[in-house]
Parts: sequence; structure tokens; C-alpha cells
Amino acid sequence: MDSTLEKIYSITPEQAAQYNDMVMLGSGGHGICFEKGKGVRLWDINGKSYLDCTSQGWAMYLGHANEEIRQTVYEHMGNLGHLNQNSDHLARYALAKRLTELAPEGMNRVLFAIGGSSAIEAAMKIAVKNVPGARHFISLQDGYHGSSLTTGAASWLSTKSAGMFTGFNSFLSILNDVFIRVPNPFMYRWDGSDNPEDCIDFCLKVTRDTILRSTSGPVAGIIVEPLQASGGQIPLPKRYLQGLRKICDAFGCLLIFDELQTYCRIGEYFAANKYEVKPDIICLGKALGAGLPMAAILIRDGLEGFGPLGEEVHTFANNSIAQVAALKQLDIIERDNILENVNTQGDYMGARLKALQQQFPQIGDVRQVGLHIGIEFVTNPLTKEPDLEFAQTVKAIALHMGLILGEAGYRMNVLKIKPPLIITREECDEVMNIFTAAVAAASQKLGR
Ligand SMILES: Cc1ncc(COP(=O)(O)O)c(C=O)c1O
Repeated sequence: MDSTLEKIYSITPEQAAQYNDMVMLGSGGHGICFEKGKGVRLWDINGKSYLDCTSQGWAMYLGHANEEIRQTVYEHMGNLGHLNQNSDHLARYALAKRLTELAPEGMNRVLFAIGGSSAIEAAMKIAVKNVPGARHFISLQDGYHGSSLTTGAASWLSTKSAGMFTGFNSFLSILNDVFIRVPNPFMYRWDGSDNPEDCIDFCLKVTRDTILRSTSGPVAGIIVEPLQASGGQIPLPKRYLQGLRKICDAFGCLLIFDELQTYCRIGEYFAANKYEVKPDIICLGKALGAGLPMAAILIRDGLEGFGPLGEEVHTFANNSIAQVAALKQLDIIERDNILENVNTQGDYMGARLKALQQQFPQIGDVRQVGLHIGIEFVTNPLTKEPDLEFAQTVKAIALHMGLILGEAGYRMNVLKIKPPLIITREECDEVMNIFTAAVAAASQKLGR
């Protein structure tokens, strides 16, 4: 073994525990210390194995330690690694071409970025350039677009609802008033009529009114996740998204799709195509680089892009290794029909969860599109009071049983099942069996 790796791997669990304080985190606490992974599984330094239904920040579509990505990256790194923004490489051209081919027609320019928040900010800059005099953006309740100073101001983190995620309050004093939030069509928690169409109409009407009467000057853009992930796994209806397009056209502002989490995970490359909406800008990140850090924006023809005078400059915005990995990942997704797997396994787990809901009224709602799955826990299915304790108990028991689940929203009563997209039927059964056992055990433990 390489001598540096040897030194790393010889750190004992006791030493690792002592080193904890040297590593500062920006959120949460230190979790499990992992040693290795393969596919959907991870192993910790004590040898315990886990099924990973978080894909580590939803970023590992092909699972852990994918051998083909490794070989391609290894071969490429013998030639090149990091390149400055103005240096070119064929991988950048090839990835730009591939993404524009997959995206809705007429989105033919790609800017690569270092991460999600920075891609969102780049999209915002493009919108401001194209809507002269604009000072505002519209974002949605329960939306999440990052935690940089600007994108955090667009996200649920900076609202009073943030619950246990109040950390963003530390920065409220210098946050700008760029973002104005509008209601999201969250059908399960809509307290209007029983007709979901009314909810869509209401949300669109408020958005229209807000642009007309609640902003000082023009709005640069509406920024939206087609499926609100971090805010609670809330799929937004097609008619609503199409309605946003019409509003943007009416008011001359840009529609920005934040597709960081929907890219491929909803069973299509782009939500824009699935929901038949043509946004002006699409933002990508997370799993785009097959686990290597990278992000991107695609902009539609006719928009003014960035010029040569230093509008958007980042040292690591042109990493040829991540670009090669992104292309290899797309080759594998296509070759192995992985999007089909996303739909098949997602629907299968969705159906099993719906069946489980019949047994356990603590499961208030199951929301599933592809392998984007959220399970909302409530104290009573009629009152829909969020049950944080039940959700967290299920999560802890599942972890003990070797299943890593995510959690969502300021209420934190939504658990997420978002495994790597390569998950097999057998692995789905394992996930579902552990989840079912954890729900039953939580029900017994809490006596409800
Ligand atoms: C939908 C969405 N947009 C933007 C971001 C921000 O990306 P990053 O954490 O890479 O800055 C995230 C991260 O969770 C996200 O889920």
C-alpha cells in the first residue's frame, strides 16, 4: 500500500475520536467514521456495514468506489488535472456538448462552477444582466438553494421556521433583501379546499400579485427546485411549474430551475423535460461530477452571458478530472439504462411504503418521484401534526440496524430514502425490510 495511505489507515478509532475537535463542521455534529464503500454500501472503521440511502449528500449516483469511474479518472490524471478557467481541454467541450444535447432544446451554453451555491449565484448574475434594473428574486417557501450568504437568503434556513437549523440567524444582520418568498404548492399541507388544483391556482395567483404589488422595481427571476428536496421532499405539480413559466413571460423575468437534486434522480435527465417546461437557466451540481466537486449552469439562447471583464471567476471552476468523471457517469447511466432502474426501483419502494402507510397511521404522507422519496410522520393523520420524535426514532433505529436515512425540512419529521441510482431490487427489499422493522420498533418504543 502507498505509504501515505498506510499512515492514514493506521489511525485507530480511539485516535480518530481525539482528532474530532480539529475538524470544524459548518452544520451538525461528527457522524460515523467510514472506512470504505462499495455500491450502495458503506463500512465504518469498526467494520459495521450500512445501506446508504443518502448517497452522501445525494451526490453518489453510481454508488461508492465505482471501479469504472476510478479507472477513467486514473487514466486521465496521468495526463492532466486542474486547469485554470481560461485554459481549455477537450473534456470541457465534450461535457458541455453532452449536457446541451440532454437539456431542453435551445439551451446551448454551459458555465462550469465549483459547487451548487456558486452555480446558483452565477445564474442569479445572468438574470440580473438580462433584466436591467432588477433588484429582486422570487423564491419559494420550503425552497433550498445553498448556504452561501446570498443563496442562504433564498433558502428556508434563513426563515424563522428553521427549527433546529437556526444557524443562519448568525448572518441575518448582513443579509440582503434580494429574495421575496411566495407560497409553494405543498398539497399535503395545503389547508384550503380538497381540490389540489385550487392550491396550484392560489400559489400562482400570490406569485403574480407579489411581482405586481410587493416588490420595488422589476424581478430578475423566479428560482425554483422542481422537487423541493431539503425543504421536505415536496414534488411540485407540472401545471404549477408551467404556470411559473407563463408568469415569467408576462413580467419579463427569468425562470431558473435549480436541478441540483432532480438531475437523473427523478428518472429523467432533466425535470425541465419531464415537466415540459423550458426554463431560462438550469443549475446543476451535487452528483454531476460522479462524486468529484463540480457544478454548472445551462442558459438558453438569446440571453446575454458573461463577458471577458471578470464577472465570474473561480480558481476551481474548470476541473478536467471532474469533467471526465461526469462524462463517464453519463456513459454508464446511458449504457446501463440507469434512468429506467430509477423509475422501476423508485416506484417499487413507493408502493411498498404506501402499503406500510395502511399499517402505520404515523406515516402521514409518502412522496415519491423516481428515487426521490420522502416519508412524512405525523401524530395523527387527520390533524397532521408533525411528529419529529417518531421520525427521529425511526431514523436512529434504522441506523442501528444498518440503514442510513436522510431527513428533511424545518420540521425534521420527513425521512428521505435517496440511495445511489444503481440500487437493485434485492437491495430495495433490504432497505424496505429494515425501514418497516424500524417503524414497528419506533411504534412499540413510543407507544403510538
Ligand atoms: C437544490 C439545491 N440547490 C443548491 C444546493 C447548494 O449546493 P452546495 O451545497 O453544493 O452549495 C443544494 C445543496 O443541498 C440543493 O439541494
